[in-house]
Amino acid sequence: MIKKCLFPVAGYGTRFLPATKSMPKEMLPVVNKPLVQYGVEEAIEAGMTTCAMVTGRGKRAIADHFDISYELEHQISGSGKEAYLASIRNVLEKGVFTMVRQREMKGLGHAILTGKSLIGNEPFGVLLSDDLCINDGPGVLAQMAELYKQFRCSIVAIQEVPADETHKYGVISGESLKEGIYRVDEMVEKPAPEDAPSNLAIIGRYILTPDIFDIIADTEPGANGEIQLTDALQTQARQGCVMAYKFKGRRFDCGSVPGFVEATNYVYEHHYTDI
Ligand code: UTP
Repeated sequence: MIKKCLFPVAGYGTRFLPATKSMPKEMLPVVNKPLVQYGVEEAIEAGMTTCAMVTGRGKRAIADHFDISYELEHQISGSGKEAYLASIRNVLEKGVFTMVRQREMKGLGHAILTGKSLIGNEPFGVLLSDDLCINDGPGVLAQMAELYKQFRCSIVAIQEVPADETHKYGVISGESLKEGIYRVDEMVEKPAPEDAPSNLAIIGRYILTPDIFDIIADTEPGANGEIQLTDALQTQARQGCVMAYKFKGRRFDCGSVPGFVEATNYVYEHHYTDI
């Protein structure tokens, strides 16, 4: 039902400098696969085969990754090394990739508004590829797409975080409808522990209804002087409905060095097989 997923990949990735000086953060490999490819695989698994990327300067490697490399194909065609290309070939076969550039980094909300021309007037997924999510069953976006069929409104993925970490996230409060599903009534971006309405933090998976674009266009800059998606979602929650969903699976904050190292160890131990 939801065919498109937006990938905001324009951020600077300052927490990974100097690695991200001339290389996109989203191309950092967790073991042997770049972060953004894990994200694209999750979106495709959820049926969102159009992957709309909001890129920026210095992000060309992402566009190249989701294109054919003729030299490479020619070089290793018919050799034993061909198997190493299997996962990216599979993604290229199933996915369609569209791109638009965000010229100024004015925040996640602004990045999403920049992607409007790629999405149009339909519900869509949003995946922040620095949040790597791994589940043995259906991926997080697939779980959320299933939930969308029931509620037909925006959905944010949440997880419980320690009280002293609320300042890193958007935090929600709401009415619990059933195990792991909340109707959101309040959302705060990066609250101090004493201002946080709960310890339920939004992570980088969303399903958004397209009215969000007009709401973002009317949203003033918030925390850090950026146009915050959380502020727009708060307006949407007041006007209609936003659900929060405690997803099944593990999430690694690969935008931070400790989270990235943890993900690398986990994937190497549980999912890596040499071919
Ligand atoms: P982050 O807050 O992680 O920022 O953005 P960042 O620039 O990527 O990383 P640090 O904090 O400097 O280390 C969350 C997501 O939103 C995207 C980022 O690419 C990331 O996926 N984003 C953020 C944009 O696309 N544009 C923006 O203007 C801001």
